[in-house]
Amino acid sequence: PKTVFSGIQPTGIPHLGNYLGALANWVKLQNGASPDDRLLYSIVGWHALTLPQDPKALRAARWEMLASLLATGLDPRRSIIFHQDHNPNHTELAWILNCLCPIGKLKRMTTWKAKLAASRNANDESEVDESLLNAGLFTYPVLQAADILAYRATHVPVGEDQQQHLELARDIADSFNRAFPKPKKIFPLPQHMIPPSKRILSLRDPSSKMSKSSPDVQSRILLTDEFAQIQAKFRSAVTDSQLGVTFDPVNRPGVSNIVTILATCTDKSSEMVAELYTSKGHAQLKMDTAEAVESLLRQPREEFKRLKSETGYLEEIAKEGARRAREISEGTMTLVRSQIGLAQST
Ligand code: TYM
Repeated sequence: PKTVFSGIQPTGIPHLGNYLGALANWVKLQNGASPDDRLLYSIVGWHALTLPQDPKALRAARWEMLASLLATGLDPRRSIIFHQDHNPNHTELAWILNCLCPIGKLKRMTTWKAKLAASRNANDESEVDESLLNAGLFTYPVLQAADILAYRATHVPVGEDQQQHLELARDIADSFNRAFPKPKKIFPLPQHMIPPSKRILSLRDPSSKMSKSSPDVQSRILLTDEFAQIQAKFRSAVTDSQLGVTFDPVNRPGVSNIVTILATCTDKSSEMVAELYTSKGHAQLKMDTAEAVESLLRQPREEFKRLKSETGYLEEIAKEGARRAREISEGTMTLVRSQIGLAQST
C-alpha cells in the first residue's frame, strides 16, 4: 500500500497553479486510492514562518487553507488533513535530520540560491550577504524532509518547483538508513509524482511561475475569483505578437501557458488543444480558457464561501486530522529514537 504525503503553505488563498499543480491532483489521488492506501495532506505553518508573517493574517490564512482543501474535494473520511504545527513530531525529526544533512547540500538548493541572489549587496554585486537571512530559510528543506519521513511516505505529489526538495528528502532518508541500519532500515525512499500541469506560469510575466507572492494580483487566478475576474485576468494575460496558437513553451511561453491551462481543465494534452486552435486568435483561446477555468472552479468557490465561516466544523476536522497524523508519526519516532540511541530500545 502507498502512503501519500503533501503539504501547502498557509500564505493566502490558493491560486490556479496550486490548484492544477497540486490540489486537483491530491483529490484525484484520493479518489483513485485503494482502501489500504494512506493519504496525508498538511497545511505547513512552520514553513510559512521563514518569511515575515503578520500573526493575525497567518491565523486567518491557516483556516482559509483548510477550508480551501475541503472545498476542492478532499474528504476527511478518506484523507488525513491537518495543521503541521499541531504535530511536534515534525520539528523533532527535523532536528535529528539536520544533524545528518551536510551544509553543502543545502547550499545547492535553488530556492536558497534565489534568496541569496535577492539579498545581494546593492553596491557590490559580487558580494553576497547571507548573514542577515534567517536560519529557517536555510534548513527549510530539512523540515520538508521531516514532514514526509515522519509518515514514511512512499509518494509525494508536488509541482516541479519542489522537485529538488524531494530529491534531498530521498537523500536524507538514504543517509539515515545507512547511518542507522539496525535493527532495520526505517525509511522508504519517497518518490515524487509530478502532474502534467507541473508549472503554471504568471499571466503577466510568463518567464516566472504563478505565485502567491507576486505583487501583481492580475498575474494569478485565485480559487475565490468570480467569473468576471477570471475573464478580466485572461483578457490582460501577456502572450506574444505572433498570429495563431501553437504549443511551444520555450519560444512562446505566454500562449503555451494558456494552452496548458485549457488542456488541463478539459483533460486533453497541450498538443491536442494547440491543434484545435491553430488558426484561431489569442482572444478566442483566452476566452475559452476563462470559461473552462470557471467551470472547474465554480463549485470549489461556492463550497469555500460556505465553509470558511464554519469555524467549529473546521476546528473539529483539524483536531481529528492532527490526532490521526500523530498516531502514525509517533510510530516512526519510536523507531527513530530507539535506533539513534535516544531512548531505550525494547
Ligand atoms: P507551496 O505552498 O509553495 O505550494 C503548494 C503546491 O503547489 C505547487 N505549485 C505549483 N504548481 C504548478 N504551478 C505553479 N505555479 C505552482 N505554484 C505552486 C507546489 O509545487 C506545491 O506542490 N515546500 C512546499 C510545501 C511543503 C511540502 C512538504 C510539499 C512543505 N512540506 C512536504 C510536499 C511535501 C511549498 O512551499 O509549497
